[in-house]
Amino acid sequence: MNHNLLSRRQVAKMCAAMAAAGTLRAGPENPAILEAMKSVRAAIPKAESDPSRPVYHFHPPAYWNNDPNGTVWHKGWHHLFYQHNPYAAIWGHMHWGHARSRDLVNWEHLPIALWPSREKGEEHVFSGGAIAGPDGRPWLFYTSIGERPPEQWLALPEDDELIEWKKYPANPILTLQIHGTVQVNEWRDPFLFREAGSTYMVCGGNLQPSGGRAAVQLYEAAGPDLTRWKYRGPVFEYRDRDVYNIECPNLFRLGTKWVLLMSPQKPCEYFVGDLDLARAKFLPQTHGTLDPGRSYASNISFDNQGRCILWLWGRTGTNPDRGWNNVMTLPRILSIGTDGYLRQTPAPEFESLRRDAVDIPAMALKNQSVSMSHKISGDCLEFEAEFTADSATSMGLKVRSGPAGTAGLEIAFNPENGVLSAGDARASVSLGKAIRLRGFLDKRAVEVYANDGEAAIFTTTDAPPENTGLEVFATGGAARLLFLRSWTLKPAGFSLDRFR
Ligand code: FRU
Repeated sequence: MNHNLLSRRQVAKMCAAMAAAGTLRAGPENPAILEAMKSVRAAIPKAESDPSRPVYHFHPPAYWNNDPNGTVWHKGWHHLFYQHNPYAAIWGHMHWGHARSRDLVNWEHLPIALWPSREKGEEHVFSGGAIAGPDGRPWLFYTSIGERPPEQWLALPEDDELIEWKKYPANPILTLQIHGTVQVNEWRDPFLFREAGSTYMVCGGNLQPSGGRAAVQLYEAAGPDLTRWKYRGPVFEYRDRDVYNIECPNLFRLGTKWVLLMSPQKPCEYFVGDLDLARAKFLPQTHGTLDPGRSYASNISFDNQGRCILWLWGRTGTNPDRGWNNVMTLPRILSIGTDGYLRQTPAPEFESLRRDAVDIPAMALKNQSVSMSHKISGDCLEFEAEFTADSATSMGLKVRSGPAGTAGLEIAFNPENGVLSAGDARASVSLGKAIRLRGFLDKRAVEVYANDGEAAIFTTTDAPPENTGLEVFATGGAARLLFLRSWTLKPAGFSLDRFR
């Protein structure tokens, strides 16, 4: 069925019926949002005064964020919604925060978009996705949590800037009953896509009759209004019994292939393969770890340049007394390499933050660590470097190192086993003598990319503020630094003008 065939008159009629139902909206007349924003505003001075808070990774005005939600490009803006606790820097009271950006770097914080409708027994607005509704605006689908089994709910925008939202009056749009006799536990996190004129939704969870397997469920819209759905069955079941549950599944076409991203309550994984929609089965061909570090809960969006943008929650593990906790990783451009595995590269727009380039010439390293601090130092840096190993068993850089080489975070490549590590996170990259590294240091957040996106790691460092040094090193033998170039990165813009 082609969902683009709804007439303007039908859309207007449907929207008028929804508006007439008069549920609470975002904006000044919604006391739940007013109260939540008042609470966040009161915490901003404290969050902003913390010198360890990242300055160019996306973060809410204050307090807690987790998953990116409903990421969507609409009318010239990248919209980012996110799981947000407006009352503390710990998880709880899930709302959807909202911000928009023209360039993926500089952001405008917008009013909180979605709130728990307590009058309807809703306690948390959990994660979800966006897709264009019949009015051409993004509609938001999310998991509603209350003192009842989880349900999938729909929220509709009132304006083109996506500032004000109302809940679809006949929510829920999906309940567990849709599965008939199939028992799905931990059912949540809708993600939507369109293919061949039909609209589909996937949700994560755990499938009981097959013995407790983590699974992704597929649904197909039964009509253009996106409020009636058919269950198509488990599109993917995880064979690994250690994986109990899949959160935040994202299933989408990338070029000629299909990609399934998932958060299996350990670092995010991906599969690349084909999607057989007639049989409702995803057929994986390659499998990898998306990021072995402290990121989680992926989402994606496609922009007007046709780029697939990957969004991830960056867990900073910050002491909640500081008034903030967590960021988003840098938005990453996702593609599939000729080997069939994913590639991730930071959005090139971040180059606009570069200042004061420094070039370090090639040098030999013989089982030693060399400080670059006379030329490069700071806690907001980007660097690119290439190393080749001779006899060395490990080579790389240390960031945020102290005067006598204390603490900091080591980014190391082992040419013998192809393992790249950043702190305690480990990723596999192509085995070989050489490694190309690109790194971003943003106060306590560290993000590393290897070999043009073969591996990406988001992690953190607890280095004390005075540790601003950078070192290059080789251990176990000799290596060569082919080049090192670094920049100071200036803070991104985070406007609060619309966060009233
Ligand atoms: C993933 C997750 C989702 C859930 C949300 C709640 O981090 O657990 O499964 O919807 O966070 O905040």
